[in-house]
Amino acid sequence: MAIREQCSAPLVCFTISCILSAITAGLAAPQPHVVFILADDYGWHDIGYHGSEIKTPHLDNLSAKGVRLENYYVQPICTPSRNQLMTGRYQIHTGMQHEIIWPCQPYCVPLDETLLPQLMKEAGYSTHMVGKWHLGMYKKGCLPTRRGFDTYFGYLTGSEDYFTHYRCVPIHTLNQTRCALDLREGEEVATAYKGAYSTELFSERAVNLIQNHSSNKNNPYLLFLYNLNPLTLQVPQRYLTPYSFIKDHNRQVYAGMVSAMDEAVGNITLALHQTGLWENTVLIFSTGMITKTIGPYGRKATLWEGGVRGVGFVASPLLNRPGIVSRELIHISDWLPTLVALAGGRTNSTKPLDGFNVWNTISKGHASPRLELLHNIDPLFKDLGPCKFMLYHSYPILHGSLYANNGTSWADSGFNVSIHAAIRSSNWKLLTGYPGCDFWFPKPTGNKSNILEMGPLKPVMLFDIEKDPEERNELSAKFPAVVDNLLSRLYAYQKQALPITFPDEDPKCDPGPGGAWGPWA
Ligand SMILES: *[C@@H]1O[C@H](CO)[C@@H](O)[C@H](O)[C@H]1NC(C)=O
Ligand SMILES: *[C@@H]1O[C@H](CO)[C@@H](O)[C@H](O)[C@H]1NC(C)=O
Ligand SMILES: *[C@@H]1O[C@H](CO)[C@@H](O)[C@H](O)[C@H]1NC(C)=O
Ligand SMILES: *[C@@H]1O[C@H](CO)[C@@H](O)[C@H](O)[C@H]1NC(C)=O
Ligand SMILES: *[C@@H]1O[C@H](CO)[C@@H](O)[C@H](O)[C@H]1NC(C)=O
Ligand SMILES: *[C@@H]1O[C@H](CO)[C@@H](O)[C@H](O)[C@H]1NC(C)=O
Ligand SMILES: *[C@@H]1O[C@H](CO)[C@@H](O)[C@H](O)[C@H]1NC(C)=O
Ligand SMILES: *[C@@H]1O[C@H](CO)[C@@H](O)[C@H](O)[C@H]1NC(C)=O
Repeated sequence: MAIREQCSAPLVCFTISCILSAITAGLAAPQPHVVFILADDYGWHDIGYHGSEIKTPHLDNLSAKGVRLENYYVQPICTPSRNQLMTGRYQIHTGMQHEIIWPCQPYCVPLDETLLPQLMKEAGYSTHMVGKWHLGMYKKGCLPTRRGFDTYFGYLTGSEDYFTHYRCVPIHTLNQTRCALDLREGEEVATAYKGAYSTELFSERAVNLIQNHSSNKNNPYLLFLYNLNPLTLQVPQRYLTPYSFIKDHNRQVYAGMVSAMDEAVGNITLALHQTGLWENTVLIFSTGMITKTIGPYGRKATLWEGGVRGVGFVASPLLNRPGIVSRELIHISDWLPTLVALAGGRTNSTKPLDGFNVWNTISKGHASPRLELLHNIDPLFKDLGPCKFMLYHSYPILHGSLYANNGTSWADSGFNVSIHAAIRSSNWKLLTGYPGCDFWFPKPTGNKSNILEMGPLKPVMLFDIEKDPEERNELSAKFPAVVDNLLSRLYAYQKQALPITFPDEDPKCDPGPGGAWGPWA
């Protein structure tokens, strides 16, 4: 791999093996720079080109000249989406199928998993990450700088205050809530940024990294930027002003946060153009997990479409057919094999991948190699309160119809249909167990009284997602053969699943007064 690194500047090739290696890697295709922007809590109806009332001119323009991914899926909550992005593997294969990593839980993405930045580094890339990590940090070996990133600037837990960079965590075993700083520069606590708004702080850092890299154009780089997370609804006033027409305060703040992110993406693309790096850059924009404001499909933290269908696009001068919309099935786990292949790297050191290389699908319009998608199987799933995650506190708190598994009609498949699970195969989606908050929500701009309970759920539900993306027309009785087939697929997956890792909190996580969240073990 060291040889490959030298070869990124062709004139450095002096030895036969180097030349051979350069030829096999295909000199005609230089390794592209990769900029990956992950936007947590960003839903289908929150981008201009899906008709949002929120203005996203930079994202709209960038994606119009790129490829918009309109059949693109992520995971319903933060850690799982990142985990699949970084490993290219389903949650059931890492033992992380349940919830997120809470700050005091002593675990991280298993250390025998090879992460995307490690593979890019092996292919000769410099690798940088800015923003939220949330893949575990209880010991140093779990930190981003130990898992493939040359540099890191950001926060380690799942959310923070965007001005103070503090995170408050209830530590149940100590019967107290600890508020402490969560911001790091590499592995060091970063204390100098109090008052700087995260979106601006992180995008400024990204621009700085890009500018620094411009003197070293032949060395490919990977830049991961995490942005936006309205778990904490906070935004400087100047982003709010254009949204005085939005009456719901939370939605107004959210809109301001999206505008700040849109501006950040504008700043980053400008820097890429100004440094000349853009000509050889692939920029990917992806929802991290879905916002609470999804409507009308359902909401975050569920396996309904509202919890998994994301916003995604790729912009790059390297696309063969820019300016198109792709309706091919693509999942967040597909980026690892796709990007490593673009980098001319290898994935033979990883465990078996669930992701596919979808570059030809995106760039050339080929059919997606992905025919099936396991959304998740989580036997421990509990809804985190009845629709508790709703952003609009002005919604009435309604109690979902309690699901009871009274039927045994699908017992032949072997799969326990009380388990929270969902699988997609071409146009079909099968859900079992309780998928989570079962309401149809109006669009963010819609009439909030029109929140609608889905009615009694069945233990097994089948939808034709292509025709019925709102999951209104349940078809299991009409297509029993499809149901049987998908249940047997779920059964096969469940047999491969690792036991769930979800340890009790460790009170030693407490950084104490004046401390910072970080490794304690
Ligand atoms: C987006 O594109 C339109 C049409 O080309 C242009 O008028 C507008 O200035 C662009 N906006 C941004 C923010 O680049
Ligand atoms: C936990 O703290 C609360 C408030 O300080 C107190 O009322 C309660 O008794 C404490 N519980 C235990 C188990 O110590
Ligand atoms: C974008 O760049 C401008 C000019 O440098 C700066 O004022 C603004 O704060 C930046 N926006 C973000 C979100 O970083
Ligand atoms: C960019 O380069 C300057 C000058 O070498 C350095 O001070 C700065 O820390 C670098 N920025 C980043 C984000 O690495
Ligand atoms: C991966 O493939 C390369 C080239 O075939 C080989 O040199 C290397 O040893 C392989 N690595 C593993 C872990 O199998
Ligand atoms: C089926 O799954 C549910 C939910 O995980 C569990 O409570 C139940 O014990 C399981 N039943 C069997 C027979 O394994
Ligand atoms: C919203 O919907 C409710 C119930 O359908 C209706 O009574 C109300 O008039 C609607 N409000 C508006 C502003 O349309
Ligand atoms: C089982 O649940 C269905 C609704 O999903 C209901 O129609 C049916 O009567 C129930 N059967 C029994 C035996 O309770």
